[in-house]
Amino acid sequence: MATAAADTAADTASTTSAGAAAYGALADPGALAGSAEPAEPSVRARAALEAARRRTLALTDAVSDEDLVAQHSRLMSPLVWDLAHIGNQEELWLVREAGGRPGLRPDLDHVYDAFQTPRADRPALPMLGPAEARAYADAVRAETLEVLAAADTSPGQAEPLLADGFVFGMLAQHEQQHDETMLATHQLRKGPPVLDAPAPPPAPADAATLPREVLVPGGPFAMGTSTEPWALDNERPAHTVEVPAFWLDTVPVTNGAYREFIAAGGYRDERWWTPEGWQHVQDTGLEAPLFWSRDGDGWTRRRFGHVEPVPDDEPVLHVCWYEADAYARWAGRRLPTEAEWEKAARHDPASGRSRRYPWGDGDPRPEHANLGQRHLQPAPAGSHPAGAAPSGARQLIGDVWEWTASDFTPYPGFTAFPYKEYSEVFFGPEYKVLRGGAFGVSPVVCRGTFRNWDYPVRRQIFAGFRTARDAGPGEDA
Ligand SMILES: [Fe+2]
Repeated sequence: MATAAADTAADTASTTSAGAAAYGALADPGALAGSAEPAEPSVRARAALEAARRRTLALTDAVSDEDLVAQHSRLMSPLVWDLAHIGNQEELWLVREAGGRPGLRPDLDHVYDAFQTPRADRPALPMLGPAEARAYADAVRAETLEVLAAADTSPGQAEPLLADGFVFGMLAQHEQQHDETMLATHQLRKGPPVLDAPAPPPAPADAATLPREVLVPGGPFAMGTSTEPWALDNERPAHTVEVPAFWLDTVPVTNGAYREFIAAGGYRDERWWTPEGWQHVQDTGLEAPLFWSRDGDGWTRRRFGHVEPVPDDEPVLHVCWYEADAYARWAGRRLPTEAEWEKAARHDPASGRSRRYPWGDGDPRPEHANLGQRHLQPAPAGSHPAGAAPSGARQLIGDVWEWTASDFTPYPGFTAFPYKEYSEVFFGPEYKVLRGGAFGVSPVVCRGTFRNWDYPVRRQIFAGFRTARDAGPGEDA
């Protein structure tokens, strides 16, 4: 199988709505947030699988059969491919591998193997049609639930795929990551809006008076995890990293701030770009984030079929790594490293330990972060004070994926699990790491340790960034 990130990457062309009424149906805060006791692994797994399927169906039922089989961008698969691929990966891992059953349609494996056919070429595959794809995914799910009901998913289970329900959690995450990818296809799709959701609440009163940056103290911290049950192989193991003191933007870079970079001629000034980034700007004619258009002296954007003025107070979205890196240099700053980002998000200086999330160890709730496709855009900068990190930084989780300065590399002691195509084949300088998750990321996928990766030219993903700088002598209070 491949994560959406892996699938994105494997495709060389890419990763990762439903109405307001669907909010409850789409949100799956750790499957069962709100209950005092952690859910049994099998209960949590079933809830996560069902939440993922509700979202998958909402995203695919929103368009006509004609739209489902169309390729809306060469960067993306037809939506109907994603739908049956979700079913095929579930058949491979949950029905055949975990259940030891013969499976339903092994003959389809080659059609839905993300590594065999790049996204651009998938329309030529002998894919199942919309009705067949839905029936296939349904039939697989019925067997999956039988397998889950019979499985020993206790933490003490000796088979690592089954312990804590890992493989079921892995497939729920896989489906949610493809849902995010399908949401990106919706954003690329031309035509009138078919998805709807309420706007996020306005920024809290203190948003306008937040400090521009926060200090993250120097010293060691525990990066990654060895204990999070559904963490993927690339998040493991926990290890100590020494991170000197640094300053980090309190909130992600906003559209308003990014417009200043454009107005200052940032796209035409070679000084701000890496050689590769400058070449990319020359080759492609970039002059603004993807989906932006000039409108007199201002800018509009297209967002899931709506054309609207670009809101200045929202985190900037749909910029590639080269643009994020150039903006940071123009601003006299730099992108944070991946270790800096995770330290800012998880390290608690009072206890010395790393939290699961910026706000603590509890699963994400709506007051903490804009996740789960409850909204179809980022929340205004400064939102979610309840989700702030100990440093005071806000919105590290949710709203926009954040580009980091770092290449995608294994942690010391990394072991591929359950197979090397999950992460290992992507390690190297080709990919940059993104952290934090966007508004369309499910809480079941989003952890303080979760790592996403993509090519530095990618703009259709829901990515923005924030900037950092070294702390000066004597600044590390
Ligand atoms: Fe996949």
